[in-house]
Amino acid sequence: MAKGQSDERLVSLLLKNEGSYLSGEALASSMGVTRAALWKRVNALRERGFVIEAERGRGYRLLEPPDLSAEVLRTYARGKLGREVIFYESLDSTNDTAMGLASGGAAHGTVVLADEQRKGRGRLGRRWASPQGRNIYMSIILRPGMRPREAALITLMAAVSAATAIREKTGLGAGIKWPNDLIAGGRKLGGILTEVRSDPDRVLHAVVGVGINVNMAQSDFPHSIRGSATSVFMETGKRHRRTPIVAALLGCLEGELERFTKEGRGPLLEEWRRLSSTLGKTVRVDAGDEEITGVALDIDDEGRLVLKAGDGLRRISSGDLTMLREQGAS
Ligand code: BTN
Repeated sequence: MAKGQSDERLVSLLLKNEGSYLSGEALASSMGVTRAALWKRVNALRERGFVIEAERGRGYRLLEPPDLSAEVLRTYARGKLGREVIFYESLDSTNDTAMGLASGGAAHGTVVLADEQRKGRGRLGRRWASPQGRNIYMSIILRPGMRPREAALITLMAAVSAATAIREKTGLGAGIKWPNDLIAGGRKLGGILTEVRSDPDRVLHAVVGVGINVNMAQSDFPHSIRGSATSVFMETGKRHRRTPIVAALLGCLEGELERFTKEGRGPLLEEWRRLSSTLGKTVRVDAGDEEITGVALDIDDEGRLVLKAGDGLRRISSGDLTMLREQGAS
C-alpha cells in the first residue's frame, strides 16, 4: 500500500473507532507496515493536531481529531465533492484561488479550504471577516452542466446545504434569508458568494464560496458588524469542530445536485422554503436602483423573490434584504 493510502487508512480507522482502542498489531497489519513504522505515523498525526493516546497492551485510541483538517475531510468524502481538498493555512480569498484553479481545469468537486483569509470577500464588494482558526472559509468548484439561467439555483442549493449541515452537526436552528444569508437569532451567521463563468448556453464552472461563523466570539467581529453578526458559538454557547460541518455540507450539496438532475428544481425550492426565515415577513429590499417594501410571498422557479409590494407583485433577482418589524427596521 502506498504511504498516502496507508496514512488515509490509519486516519479512517482511528476516526471510525474514535474513543476506542485499536491494537497496534491490527492497525499495522491492515496498513501493511511494521509496528515501528506505525508508531512514526501516529507521531506525525499528533504533530498535525490529532490527539492520540497510546497504551501498552491496549494499542492506540483517538481522543480528538483536529478541528479543521483536509485529511479528515477526504476520509468523509463519499462522492465527488471533497475528493480533492486543497487546504491553506492562510490565503487572500478561497474564491479567488478556486476561480484560478477552475480556469486551469480543476475537477468538479475540488474544494479550497482555508483557516484564515486575508482578503475574504462578501457580496457587493464587502469584506468578509476571516480571522484565523475560528470559522469555515471554503469554495467548491462545480461543473454542474446547467444553463446560465439556472445558475442562481446553485446558491439556493448551497444555502440549503449549509443550513442543513449546521442543524445536523450543531443543533442550531439556522435559517436562510433571501438571497444567500444564513441566519440565527435574527443575525447573520454566514453567507454564500457564487461566481460563475458561462458561455451563452452553458455554465462552464461555478465557484461556490461559503463562509460560516462557527467559533467567533462577539469581540472577534469588526465593530461595524458586532450588532448584526453572530456565530454558532455565540448562539449555542459551545465550540464546534469545523470539519464535520464542512463534510455534512458537501454531502448535502452532492445530494441536492443529484436530485436536481433527476427530479428538477421542485424539491430544492420546497427545501429552501422550509428553511427560509424570509417568507411571510414584511421586508425592504435594496435592489440597487430602487428600494422596495412589501411582504415576501415566495421564491419563483429561478430563485427570484416574489414580493407583494404597494404597486402589485414584484419579482426581484438580487438585492439586499432587511426584515422589518411592524414599526421599523430590525
Ligand atoms: C456574503 O456577503 O454574505 C457572502 C460571504 C461569502 C464569504 C465566503 S468565505 C469563503 C469564500 N471566499 C471569499 O472570499 N468569500 C467566500
